[in-house]
Amino acid sequence: MPNNPSLKTTRLLLRPFQLSDAPNVQRLAGAKEVAAGTFLPHPYEVGMAEQWIADQERAHEGGTAVSFAITLTDDATFIGSIGLDIVQSHRHARLSYWLGLPYWNQGYATEAVRAVLRYGFLQLNLHRIYSPHFQGNAASGRVLQKVGMTYEGRMREHYVRFGRFVDLELYGMLQREFTDRT
Ligand SMILES: CC(C)(COP(=O)(O)OP(=O)(O)OC[C@H]1O[C@@H](n2cnc3c(N)ncnc32)[C@H](O)[C@@H]1OP(=O)(O)O)[C@@H](O)C(=O)NCCC(=O)NCCS
Repeated sequence: MPNNPSLKTTRLLLRPFQLSDAPNVQRLAGAKEVAAGTFLPHPYEVGMAEQWIADQERAHEGGTAVSFAITLTDDATFIGSIGLDIVQSHRHARLSYWLGLPYWNQGYATEAVRAVLRYGFLQLNLHRIYSPHFQGNAASGRVLQKVGMTYEGRMREHYVRFGRFVDLELYGMLQREFTDRT
């Protein structure tokens, strides 16, 4: 896989994670509201972010993942995370993302997702990118709709989160659909 690059958008710089991001990851990912839409550990304890960043570096070297710290171009503030978990043999990847609570509802996730779809389809030559969200996470569904992904259906009670079975809403996009749009 190519070196983990940085991606620029109008307001964001998506860059590789650094160990120095760990305290900010812990602080922002530690909010229950952020954890509720994801499989982030909760509570998010000291040392977990350092471990996760090291795991991401290894996964990138092994070609199974690419992840980006989402930062504001203006002042380099760290605001969240976005990444692809890749299965090379199928040329597909699962997209996942989260933003710190103070940064919600300003269009940042949509902007970051657009950049990562572009990178995944045009640079990594992926055939398909998909993204599931927990049923009830309307904001995430809206992001995936805004970037033009197709709703593919519901996986009923697919996971356990916080002790309860949760449905997954699945969205996907094919490479040819991305290129047709752009
Ligand atoms: C999901 C998440 C990444 C969205 O980030 P964001 O930067 O706020 O997203 P955007 O601002 O780009 O778009 C959010 C859209 O959802 C809409 N929205 C927000 N809350 C909503 C709600 N409760 N019901 C319906 N729509 C909602 C917003 O109005 C906006 O749509 P619009 O542009 O048409 O008005 C963010 O809420 C988050 O990090 N949540 C916790 C982690 C998570 O759930 N990650 C996704 C896992 S699949």
